[in-house]
Amino acid sequence: MANTMPGVRPAVPHFSSGPCAKRPGWTLQALKDAFLGRSHRAKGGKGKLKRAIEETRAVLEVPADFLIGIVPASDTGAMEMAMWSMLGARPVTMIAWESFGEGWVTDVAKQLKLKDVTTIKALYGKLPDLSKVDPKSDIVFTWNGTTSGVRVPNADWIAADRDGVTICDATSAAFAQPLNWAKLDVVTFSWQKALGGEAAHGMLVLSPRAVERLERDPAPRPLPKIFRLTKGGKLIDGIFRGETINTPSMLCVEDWLFALDWAEQAGGLDALIARADANAAALDRWAQGAGWIEHLAKDPAIRSNTSVSLQFADRADEDANRARQKAIAKLLEAEDAAYDVAAYRDAPPGLRIWCGATVETADIEALGPWLNYAWEATRG
Ligand SMILES: Cc1ncc(COP(=O)(O)O)c(C=O)c1O
Repeated sequence: MANTMPGVRPAVPHFSSGPCAKRPGWTLQALKDAFLGRSHRAKGGKGKLKRAIEETRAVLEVPADFLIGIVPASDTGAMEMAMWSMLGARPVTMIAWESFGEGWVTDVAKQLKLKDVTTIKALYGKLPDLSKVDPKSDIVFTWNGTTSGVRVPNADWIAADRDGVTICDATSAAFAQPLNWAKLDVVTFSWQKALGGEAAHGMLVLSPRAVERLERDPAPRPLPKIFRLTKGGKLIDGIFRGETINTPSMLCVEDWLFALDWAEQAGGLDALIARADANAAALDRWAQGAGWIEHLAKDPAIRSNTSVSLQFADRADEDANRARQKAIAKLLEAEDAAYDVAAYRDAPPGLRIWCGATVETADIEALGPWLNYAWEATRG
């Protein structure tokens, strides 16, 4: 049978897992009220930064007694700040099942050189045995592993009466998956992910326990200014009112405010989660029928609804599969049918399709036939 090109392209072919698709209908016009060419510490700038924090709290449903700060260097900046500021006072359990989680393990073992570290790992597509986590230790984990499409199903495995703090990289989960705030002490994410904001700015959310810990056990190491959360044993609380450590991009702040407005109008957190679920379900319907591809996460309970990761069903020749992955992504990009859909470089060869709330379900539905077309067109 001839392999015919589908007639309909996704209206927005943006399926990257970061930076993610901007909100439906986004144009540069959205940024026209940005506070540009002025000090971010002037009343107008500070007001916008404060609003960015308050509206993040409202949309993400962050408890009133948690603090939210805008920090430099995106999600990585927020995670590094937390780890370098907090770890070392107690044993640490590092949990990793894909590339980003592995990165945090490297940091703790090779850069911070902490001695009392237990690492619990799993291969791509799986979740480690979370019952092995010692509640007496500090815990570092990634809620949604962006490069394997595996997420924790819940936070039941974290003890309510834990002694340590939990540090959670939630960058590809926030605004798409429910986060159990009672079990989380530090939560980080970037603007560039699930609401389609801009990169370079991260958010650091601290529970009252995290603040207590920061003030009680100062980091046993020197810290550069960019990481410092305390001064003289006290939290620098201005950071959590919008007095950023260094200068933020007010263009990015404006974009974030617009993202939050869109999220609110879309119906808030439950609606965002429902949109991601609907997108992942639409992609799953296609994948089940395709025959040549399957989920990397076999267990639906731990399967992501954002960074949905698929691997080729025939895995006899990894090099050939890697080449095919590249060819498919290239063809789809050239046709403006789908951008950035190749699997992450360290993941098994296949495809990764972002299904977060800023993507329209109709575009996921239009994508399926293109994926089939590209599969056939790259045969041999
Ligand atoms: C789970 C996870 N952690 C960290 C990062 C790094 O994020 P950023 O580049 O925003 O610092 C990413 C980016 O994709 C990610 O998916």
